Amino acid sequence: MPARPPRPRTRKVSVTVESAARTAPAAVIVAIDGPSGTGKSSTSKAVAAKLGLSYLDTGAQYRAITWWMITNEIDTDDPAAIATAAAKPVIVSGTDPGAPTITVDGLDAAGPIRTQEVTAKVSAVSAVPEVRALITQLQRDIAAAAPAGIVVEGRDIGTTVLPDADLKVFLTASPEARAARRSGELKGVDVATTREALLKRDAADSGRKTSPLAKADDAVEVDTTELTLDQVIECVVTLIEEKRAAK
Ligand code: DC
Repeated sequence: MPARPPRPRTRKVSVTVESAARTAPAAVIVAIDGPSGTGKSSTSKAVAAKLGLSYLDTGAQYRAITWWMITNEIDTDDPAAIATAAAKPVIVSGTDPGAPTITVDGLDAAGPIRTQEVTAKVSAVSAVPEVRALITQLQRDIAAAAPAGIVVEGRDIGTTVLPDADLKVFLTASPEARAARRSGELKGVDVATTREALLKRDAADSGRKTSPLAKADDAVEVDTTELTLDQVIECVVTLIEEKRAAK
């Protein structure tokens, strides 16, 4: 009697894998860059929440390391001192878009990183190459671990941190619109003062040598000056859905 052919043991597994691939969308990596006051944070959080993605505020990480430098009395005008201390703080970012968190050495830093002192010093600290190398690696590790994908907002995400992102968006807005939005958030600071501080910080962030604020060649530029937040969110969600459909 001829021997029975062996059972196709791999068949069931391959069917399961194929159907899983059909139902679960592939992880999607979205980079959202632009200067301050263009709506990056509000847009990124809302888009991530809507699509079930993780969210990372990279500006908060640079603010966190700046806060650590200030509280540890490192001279923020001394790049060599900053470089020597850069690896000491342990920065942990929580990536739930509904409740993003940031801790430094186990301490909640969400409040302290938003002070005017940190805002005034963060450009100098974030320009130090050793700081950028450490924070960039941290950002890449977080993005790689996000189960469904992630929306990462910053200044150099599309150009340097995640150059292979599925979608890159560069948000812009007129200095007047940006200053009006920011001074609305910073109660008691007038629009003219906010505009001056924003432009000063943009110049420092765009002019630094290591991974400056810049639009990636393949980024979609969205001018938010005349758009409502809901319109910007809708626009980015549509761009992501188009990318997902093409994947
Ligand atoms: O987004 P924000 O205003 O909180 O960012 C604070 C500063 O951090 C900003 O002035 C420049 C710096 N930054 C950076 O250099 N690279 C990033 N990817 C994000 C922020």
